[in-house]
Order: sequence, then structure tokens, then C-alpha cells
Amino acid sequence: MTQSSNINPNQLDPQGRLRHFLALQHLPSAILQKLLEKADQFLSNDFQIVKNKSLLADKIVVPLFLEPSTRTRASFQIAAHNLGAHVLNINPAASSMTKGEDALDTIRTLAAMGPQIFVLRHAQEGICAQVVEALGEKIAVINAGEGCSEHPTQALLDMLTIRRYKGDDFTSLSVAFIGDIMHSRVAHSDIWALKALGVKDIRVSGPEALVPGHLTSLGVIVEPDVDKALSGVDVVVALRIQKERMYESHIPNNQHYFQQYGLTVQRLSKAKPKAIVMHPGPMNRGVEIASDVADGVQSVILKQVTCGVAARMAVLAMIAVQ
Ligand code: NCD
Repeated sequence: MTQSSNINPNQLDPQGRLRHFLALQHLPSAILQKLLEKADQFLSNDFQIVKNKSLLADKIVVPLFLEPSTRTRASFQIAAHNLGAHVLNINPAASSMTKGEDALDTIRTLAAMGPQIFVLRHAQEGICAQVVEALGEKIAVINAGEGCSEHPTQALLDMLTIRRYKGDDFTSLSVAFIGDIMHSRVAHSDIWALKALGVKDIRVSGPEALVPGHLTSLGVIVEPDVDKALSGVDVVVALRIQKERMYESHIPNNQHYFQQYGLTVQRLSKAKPKAIVMHPGPMNRGVEIASDVADGVQSVILKQVTCGVAARMAVLAMIAVQ
């Protein structure tokens, strides 16, 4: 995560409206605010989804997930369905990619059939921008998680969750991320979003090898001591150790990691009594988070999942209906 990434796709159309949703970095905060307002309208006060089956009627949405996913994929499918779109589900393991076709050729092929929106998850950073370039402006592209770089719809749902619990003025909030920051596209997108919403106190903590020191250049506080990082915060985000993105092991074993960095009731007591606990999922209980915290009164982890449907409805609606 750098101040000026070379992966800087233009996600706005010439009128400055959202055309693709690829990254929180460089997204104007007015658009983020608009997306949050829209997402909020798709969620009732008691966290029920408010459907609108006519908004995307006749549109075809193609989720293409080339990395494992449970909640993001399901959430996009449900969001598109809630808006009346047709969802074309592709199973990569049963597609011609198993015959050697590369992802871009598969995408070009599907695009030639005339869908309006692609939702793409891929391990390669920059792939969404490449797809935008390959397809021209005919089809909108939504990043559903790209390498370690960005996961913009997760950031939107995280901001919606925070807003629901802490109100719409983010400026005096303190937010701590604990765990594998380096490989977390969620943390990266969240940090851009929090900064765009005016949060000044953003802290990161975890094993030294997994916490990029250069985050300080973005005004993020790198605090190696987890208890200090948690002290007095309003929001705690626990993150999974992303072993699938590591060439070498940065942690000796799960038990040791839990002792050093796991979010336990005792550690959580350092945060404000009304602090909320978030986790993007999938959780590894007993590694980055204790079960009694994951299931405790401060946990909003399942509410994040519900917010995810509303957030993705907002993105689909804003892109498809200008
Ligand atoms: C995250 C992801 O895929 O980046 N999960 C998600 O989309 N909710 C985080 C993770 O895999 O740990």
C-alpha cells in the first residue's frame, strides 16, 4: 500500500460518476458518502434488507471468483437478486479455464455475450484495471478482492457497519486493526475509506513482519504493543493471518500467535467499553480471535455480513442506474 499506487484505474466516467468500483484509493469522498447513504437506505433500522426488484431488471451480473469466497460471492449474488438482476454464476473449476484458457480470455468471451456488470475476485493486483482496459467502457467492473491491494466493497460494508453503531460523524473515532495488515486488502481499503471519512486515529498492530512500517507515511499509527494499540479505541478490526499469500511463514504456530496477538476478552477490555469488534471473515477462532469475543456482546461480525448485502446493492445500483 503506497501513497500513489501505479494501479490507479479511472473508475469515474467523464461526468465524474461511478462507472467501475475498483479501489478506495483516490475515490472522491463525496462518492463514498453517496454510496454509504444509498447502502443505508437498503437497510432498515433493524438490519432488514430493503429490496427493489425493478432497479436492475433486465441487467445481467457476472460474478467471477478466481479465489475462494463464501460471503463476498453470496452477498453479491443476493444483492443482485434483490435488485431484480439476473446473476450468471460461473464455476471456475468447471469452466474452460481448466482447459488452459486464461482469465482475460474467459472474461472477453463472457463479455461478448452482453452482460452489464462483472464482479471479479482474483489474486493478481491490477487485474481489474486490465479488465477495464480489455473490455472498453461497455461493461462495468467491480473489484471483489484483488491480491493484497484492495477490497472496496468490504470497506464500504465496514464503513456502513461503523456508521450504524457509531453515527455518521467519523472524525473523532479511533480504529485499531490487529493482525496480518500486510496481506490484508480489507485493511488497505478500510484505511483509505477511514481517511476519506476524516478518521485521524487509525492504528495497526501485529507481528513486525506483517505490519508495513510505511503506513506511518499515511498518518497511520504503527503500534507493536497490541494492548496499547487497543487502548481507548471505538472500533477493533481483527484480521486473519493470510498464509496463502506468504512465501515463508511469518509466525511460529497458531497457539503462539494467539498468545501474542489474539483478540481475547482481556485484551478487548483495553478498548472503550462500547467498542465494537469487527472481522471481515473467514475467522480462525483461537488464532486471531477468541470465541467468546467473536460471539460476545461487542461483536458485530454477523451484522457486517448483513451490511455487505446492502453495500453491494448500493454499488450495483449506483453503477447500473445513473
Ligand atoms: C477477506 C478477503 O477475501 O480479503 N474476506 C472477505 O472477503 N470477507 C479477508 C480474508 O480472506 O481473510
